[in-house]
Amino acid sequence: MLKIHVAPSPFSKPAKNMALARWGDRDLSVGCGMKISVIGCGYLGAVHAASMAELGHDVIGIDVDNAKVAMLNAGDAPFFEPGLPEILKSALASGRLRFSTDLSDARGSTVHFVAVGTPQRKGENAADISYVDAAIDGLIPYLSDGDLVAGKSTVPVGTAARLAEKVSAGSGALLAWNPEFLREGFAVKDTISPDRLVYGLPAGEDGERAKALLDEVYATALGNETPLVVTDYATAELVKVSANAFLATKISFINAMAEIAEVTGADVTQLADAIGFDARIGRRFLNAGVGFGGGCLPKDIRAFTARAEELGRGESVAFLKEIDSINLRRRDRVVDLVVDALDGDVFQKKVAVLGLAFKPYSDDVRDSPALDVAVRLHGLGADVVATDPEAIANSRRLHPQIEFAERATDALSNADVVVLVTEWNEYRELDPAEVSALATGRTIIDGRNCLDPVSWRAAGWTYRGLGRP
Ligand code: UGA
Repeated sequence: MLKIHVAPSPFSKPAKNMALARWGDRDLSVGCGMKISVIGCGYLGAVHAASMAELGHDVIGIDVDNAKVAMLNAGDAPFFEPGLPEILKSALASGRLRFSTDLSDARGSTVHFVAVGTPQRKGENAADISYVDAAIDGLIPYLSDGDLVAGKSTVPVGTAARLAEKVSAGSGALLAWNPEFLREGFAVKDTISPDRLVYGLPAGEDGERAKALLDEVYATALGNETPLVVTDYATAELVKVSANAFLATKISFINAMAEIAEVTGADVTQLADAIGFDARIGRRFLNAGVGFGGGCLPKDIRAFTARAEELGRGESVAFLKEIDSINLRRRDRVVDLVVDALDGDVFQKKVAVLGLAFKPYSDDVRDSPALDVAVRLHGLGADVVATDPEAIANSRRLHPQIEFAERATDALSNADVVVLVTEWNEYRELDPAEVSALATGRTIIDGRNCLDPVSWRAAGWTYRGLGRP
């Protein structure tokens, strides 16, 4: 990876209030004590705000949602994210963190992170960036000369250049694009110890000044030799969407191999192990299963396709449509396996659905393959009882028609078929003998290829994985 080490900029101020904290086994040289605002306190912004305060900065998190702000001020995370409640509480106790619904509270901060959502537009592939524009428009009256607005949201390439004009016309502030690569479930670690930093900056002295401010924000990570790529706006925006497009492609590649394995009797999990030993390929993100979901990968590849089409380069990323189709076909496959297991007679059969979140260690059900499978089976007339350690409340809000069970044992009890769609540890570790004592049927569909087929078959079960015999 490209590492750029730049001499300290003349704009860097000396660090104030240096203190030491620890994160995992790493020393954190904490506390340049910058004043920071974070606009948008969702999965990205809340973690960013708390992490920046944990690193010694003085942070105000701002969100339009009163209930969310009240929870955050009370030290309660409004969503499940391991480690977040702990750093929220410690940062609030330190007095370096607070949350508000009033954008005017951003006044006085030097760096303003914009971390609002850019969801898929209804009925279209493109991203809805109206929340980003609204955040910037709302922020401009409270910006001072020399402040830095740092965009974190994932936006279509070209957005930052447009917003930079808006910011400079409305204030003397600068704009940088500073994409975020955190993974839900590891968001705190990824924010405090990122694997790289990317700054998309304006040219010339403005860029130098913006860089100096970001260097001060990220002094701890930079001090720990985190690779830094300094670039222009367009590249920074593209880095983010191309990273997610690559990850989505890797997952759909292995899922395409699973489809071929299904008609040839091959085993995609062994195939992934074997090709993954090639360091050029790598084993990570080669887990075949029900596919990718969440608030990022699916909508980001669609938004990328839409933006490339706008730019007259639709053909360059046309393959992403295929990546999307392969991904969605895997959900069909899981539903088909359930229907097969019931000999086509799904009506009023009890289906235990293990997992609702789009992945473990998250309560996020946005575009979740697991929830989608539960909803489709319900639509086919099955008596679906779905369970998840963290994601039931979010699932129920979207799909109150589904029956949810807090305990996996209740979902499994008298089930005609069992389908595992989110690989939480407690489902990976299920004992086939114990499930036999609960369920009526003897077919388990492993939508994440995370169970041991040998032990399930030995216990009398028909095991069906994805792309494995
Ligand atoms: C993703 C990226 O990994 C982050 O780097 C990025 O910052 C983030 O999107 C974002 O844009 O904000 P995240 O959505 O948290 O992070 O989830 P991932 O860990 O990427 O997983 C995405 C989906 O792929 C999940 O449904 C997961 O189950 C699935 N997956 C992952 C597979 O099906 N197979 C794999 O081998 C890996």
